[in-house]
Amino acid sequence: MKDLILVTGGTGYIGSHTTVELMAKGYEVVIIDNLSNSTIEVLDGIEKISGIRPAFEQFDLCDKEKLNAFFSKYKNLKAIIHFAAYKAVGESVDKPLMYYQNNLISLMNLLENMDDFGVPNIVFSSSCTVYGQPDELPVTEKAPIKPAESPYGNTKQIAEEILSDTMKVKPNLNTIALRYFNPIGAHPSTEIGELPRGIPNNLVPFVTQTAAGLREGLKVFGDDYNTPDGSAVRDYINVVDLALAHVIAIDRMLEKKNPANFEFFNLGTGTGSSVLDIVKTFEKVTGKKLNYEIVKRRAGDIEQVWADTSVANEILGWKASRSLDETLLSAWNWEKKLRGIN
Ligand code: UD1
Repeated sequence: MKDLILVTGGTGYIGSHTTVELMAKGYEVVIIDNLSNSTIEVLDGIEKISGIRPAFEQFDLCDKEKLNAFFSKYKNLKAIIHFAAYKAVGESVDKPLMYYQNNLISLMNLLENMDDFGVPNIVFSSSCTVYGQPDELPVTEKAPIKPAESPYGNTKQIAEEILSDTMKVKPNLNTIALRYFNPIGAHPSTEIGELPRGIPNNLVPFVTQTAAGLREGLKVFGDDYNTPDGSAVRDYINVVDLALAHVIAIDRMLEKKNPANFEFFNLGTGTGSSVLDIVKTFEKVTGKKLNYEIVKRRAGDIEQVWADTSVANEILGWKASRSLDETLLSAWNWEKKLRGIN
């Protein structure tokens, strides 16, 4: 019998790619998603790639009764990967309570049920945002957690604390928190990818939408940073590489290879790219000229961050292998498919 994994937020961007890789590895998946930031058609994309349609339950994880009924129905869950959360930084500043309620209550509800129903393992979707602007680069897992820049970032920090405190008193439970750097790109099949609602906040969806003619021009936020070309530097990681790390984290806990019941890992490429690097690389691999202008810095942005990935490399045996060229091309191919561009 296949091991059954619950993927919350499984119709979202990283959740859908992870569902595909879990099923490719022989896991069975059930998704919970309230479709607040995704669509049911994502399941068709997953099925086209995998040849299998994951089980799907549509409800809100903050709904305790429904979640309880879910755990009663799926009695043989082996692990949870918890993606479902709000993730827009600006929106979190305007609606802090909405962010704290949604992102934290859903996690606490899951943890209560894990304990009650004997589901031992959870992988948590965390972020490099917990490091703020690190004092040393590349940033290792030993770097101090800095005061959060936004309620969104704070939900990731508090969630890690909730998990760590809970693991201290529940030795039967296990957590792996994965701190993502900047996930970009799409599945090479173009069956799934990122589906931002409205005007994208993130760089790469804005770039692809500009190239597709949906946006007039990209605004590059700042060229006066203390970086080689003056624009801000991030560690952009291919979403399929990221998805594969989740499968390894699940394997690790199911095979009981984790020495501690609370672990956390950086997931990045180890290489920093500037905003202008992204623009130039996108133009090179797609042959499209991108209309862009330099504007002032975006409030709340940090100057530069990239990952030291040696812990994930050595302990998880995981390394990002997809190049920035192929990743940006995959993002463009996905955008073209969405917009019907040849
Ligand atoms: C942001 C969040 C981070 C979150 C992540 C989720 C902030 C400060 N950080 O990361 O907490 O985990 O999204 O995906 O919002 N840029 C432009 N023009 C644009 C858009 C972006 O120049 O139109 C620049 C930004 O200034 C930044 C880089 O591109 O230097 C990447 O931006 P983005 O994709 O929004 O990611 P982060 O800000 O790194």
